[in-house]
Amino acid sequence: MTRPTRSRIPFIPIAAATLFAVAGLVPKADAATPAEILSGYSAQAGSTPSPARGEQLFTAGHGREWRCASCHGAVPTQPGKHAATGKPIGPLAPAFNPERFSDSAKVEKWFRRNCRDVVGRECSAGEKADVLSWLMTLQR
Ligand code: HEC
Repeated sequence: MTRPTRSRIPFIPIAAATLFAVAGLVPKADAATPAEILSGYSAQAGSTPSPARGEQLFTAGHGREWRCASCHGAVPTQPGKHAATGKPIGPLAPAFNPERFSDSAKVEKWFRRNCRDVVGRECSAGEKADVLSWLMTLQR
């Protein structure tokens, strides 16, 4: 009588190794381009993004200690500096920093945190689209 379960055991590590190897080749689920992230936000908002409104949100004060510009600089084509810790922050405009807006989960995490700090609530999808559309107008 054969015992098929025993003969399968060596295949488990092989299957697992194959899976990891393949997973390494597949792009991350959250990987995206700035244009894809922008169209996601504008679809969610159901409106056309406005770079002028985005610039306004970014540079204006919202009655709290910080503006977006406090950490990212008024012209975020340059490196910024954390307003509290002084830590350097890479440029936010994607044309000046290819890592920006390439990971939708990271973008969401920081919009959530930074809008709460600066505006006192989360930004709407329309506001995020406005800010990103403005950042995308900043070119070399
Ligand atoms: C207190 C400092 C601070 C303020 C104020 C701030 N940010 Fe940030 N922001 C950071 C830091 C720190 C990071 C993450 C570090 C990094 O990626 O360099 C970050 C990252 C981001 C990212 C992630 C982008 C990406 O793809 O890497 C976005 C979007 C962003 N900020 C938008 C904003 C907006 C919009 C505002 C204003 C509503 C704002 N930030 C205000 C410190 C700040």
